[in-house]
Amino acid sequence: MRPANSTRQSIMTDRKAAITAVGHYLPEERLTNRDLEKLVDTSDEWITSRTGIKERRILRDPDKATSYMAVRAAQMALDRRGLGADEVDLIILATVTPDMLFPSTACLVQAELGAGNAWGFDVLAACSGFLFSLSVAARFIESGKHERVLVIGADKMSTIVDYTDRTTCILFGDGAGAVLLEANTEGYGLLDSVEHVDGNDWQGLCMPGGGSLNPPSPATLEKKMHYLFQDGQPVFKKAVVGMARVAEEIMKRNNLTGDDVRYLVPHQANLRIIDATARRMGISMDKVMLNIERYGNTTAATLPLCLADWEHELAPGDNLVLAAFGGGYTWGAAWVKWAYDAATLKPVH
Ligand code: UT7
Repeated sequence: MRPANSTRQSIMTDRKAAITAVGHYLPEERLTNRDLEKLVDTSDEWITSRTGIKERRILRDPDKATSYMAVRAAQMALDRRGLGADEVDLIILATVTPDMLFPSTACLVQAELGAGNAWGFDVLAACSGFLFSLSVAARFIESGKHERVLVIGADKMSTIVDYTDRTTCILFGDGAGAVLLEANTEGYGLLDSVEHVDGNDWQGLCMPGGGSLNPPSPATLEKKMHYLFQDGQPVFKKAVVGMARVAEEIMKRNNLTGDDVRYLVPHQANLRIIDATARRMGISMDKVMLNIERYGNTTAATLPLCLADWEHELAPGDNLVLAAFGGGYTWGAAWVKWAYDAATLKPVH
């Protein structure tokens, strides 16, 4: 009989967390560069050349918050896999725009989905939130504690964007994406990940009001502290270096070359940052998932929204490198071996 620790070792190495379905939700309303020209002193030409963004989606209805989008993305993933919500063990939800500070949005999603056997929590890691959540979720599956975990990235950025500030309002959009993770022993799934934070320069990208440091008051309202603040240039420089380095790091330590990578799945903050990352990895732009033109920066939702858009082009065994950089600063990368052919799932309605 094998000793207990050897059995555990075998579980730790063979049992991976594979993505087995993807879902998404995007509000119908489009906010184009032309629309923004009417709100602030900007131009389609400036926005397109500096960021790659043409339009974003906006969830206008004030009664619909982040959980509304998250539930729809998660339900789509479950429907396509043909599973009931009661078969989910854990819900991890990445967001910087929770419906409220507490309870966590994961609790609201659990109730709305009717996921009666699941527990859950939110992860606050800005634009790296989905990547960090994926890594955390995988540990629960690899350890044998859980069979099925929903990882959701969802943000209603329009609620924290100042539409009089041309340096930020052109960047962000609303949306949600979800993946279902399931145990896999055939070599598919999340095979490696790297995560970093550096809180020294947190002021570069933050929303300073509303927490215990600057609780809501007439003064915080007047100073616009409940809006997202970004010092664009320094964040840009950090993001270019951080995302490119971490993508290279995960490739090197797994002996992956550009030829081995089917797709880079990058956080969609700026086309120029994505371009620099692809170049560092030695891959051409036709192997990069790009939808920034249509959705802008949806913060925690960018990576699963890419997976949703490209799912039909993926085959089992394809190597994906996910990479993200965001406020905190937070950044990281993941190597995922794709597990399924989208044609075998139920179609998207
Ligand atoms: O997702 C999380 C991480 N976030 C990021 O990765 C975003 C990183 N930062 C960026 O993507 C870029 O810094 C921005 C897209 C935000 C800005 O692009 P930039 O090339 O860094 O422009 P800048 O901030 O250096 O501004 C250049 C000029 C300035 O004018 P002056 O001072 O040169 O006269 C700005 O006032 O462009 C001006 N400007 C604009 N002009 C037209 C700034 N925003 C706009 C605008 N329209 N919307």
